[in-house]
Formats: sequence, structure tokens, C-alpha cells
Amino acid sequence: MHQCQACGLCAQRTQAVPGVGDRNADWMLVGEGPGAEEDRRGEPFVGQAGKLLDAMLHAIGLERGHDVYIANAVKCRPPMNRTPEAAEVAACLPYLARQVELVQPKLLLALGRPAAQALLQTDVRINAARGRLFEYRGIPVIVTYHPAYLLRNPADKAKAWEDLCFARRTMAAQFIG
Ligand code: URA
Repeated sequence: MHQCQACGLCAQRTQAVPGVGDRNADWMLVGEGPGAEEDRRGEPFVGQAGKLLDAMLHAIGLERGHDVYIANAVKCRPPMNRTPEAAEVAACLPYLARQVELVQPKLLLALGRPAAQALLQTDVRINAARGRLFEYRGIPVIVTYHPAYLLRNPADKAKAWEDLCFARRTMAAQFIG
């Protein structure tokens, strides 16, 4: 992975940022791709969006590293923090697929459109996909806003909270029966 040259993002990265967390986690979160801080530190969601993500996790009783694994649709920083291109997401998909295979989460939370599109392989729009239950290889997938979007659009935090509650209920249902 650290030597990966499967797409052009390798040219400008400081390092690949594969993922972080509990490798036996029930919860797996998938973001878009590393930003500047993540590229520097080698860990996903350690910048401003990461602080909000940590607060969101805390709100549903979770904590980074405990029963949560965090990955991204692409593992290398897109220059100028642009949205990763479909070809870049496709080139990185085998890594994400392998991470899901190894962690075997009970629920996948897609943060934003590129993550949802990577997992669902369709042209997902967040507003239309929220509140619905999807599936990736038999694992439930829930789609919500990306924390960076929520920083720019704080009025939608209430909807993200609804999505997190939906995710928590979906997770709880897996332990019943
Ligand atoms: N945004 C993402 O999608 N992923 C990160 O790791 C950081 C910011």
C-alpha cells in the first residue's frame, strides 16, 4: 500500500493513509480521502473534520479505536483536497474491499458521496440515500453527510444525528435474534 502507484494520487502524497482503529470493530466508517493533516500524520480524520467526527462518535457512545475502524475511499490525498475521481476511487477499491473483509464489521457508515459510491457502486445522492438501508457484501450500509460538509452546513447536523441514531438502531438489531 505504501508503495502503491495504482493511480495518479501517488505523485503528490506524503504517504498513503490506509486506516486506523480496532481491527475487530463492529463499526466501520468510510470517508472520502486524506486531507493535508492526514497526509502529514498518516492517520485518517485528524484535522477539523476529524474533530467533528470524534464528537459524532462520542454522541452515540463510541470512541475512535474502540469497536470502530476508520478508512477512506481513497488512501492518498487528492491535491488541493479535491473530490477523488471515479477512476481513483476504483483503483483504491480493492484496498477498501480487503479492509472490510479483514475487519468484518457489522455495519458500514459511508461518510459522504464518494464513500457511498465506492461501497454501493451506484450514483448515490446523500439526500436521497439517507435513512435507507443498503448492503455491501451482506453488511448493512448507512449513508450520511461527510463531517467536512457538516462544518460548512451546520444546519444539517440534526439530520446527521438522525442518521447516527438510525445506525445505532440498525447495529442493535443485529444483536437481537
Ligand atoms: N476527510 C476524509 O474524508 N477523510 C479523512 O481522513 C480526512 C478528511
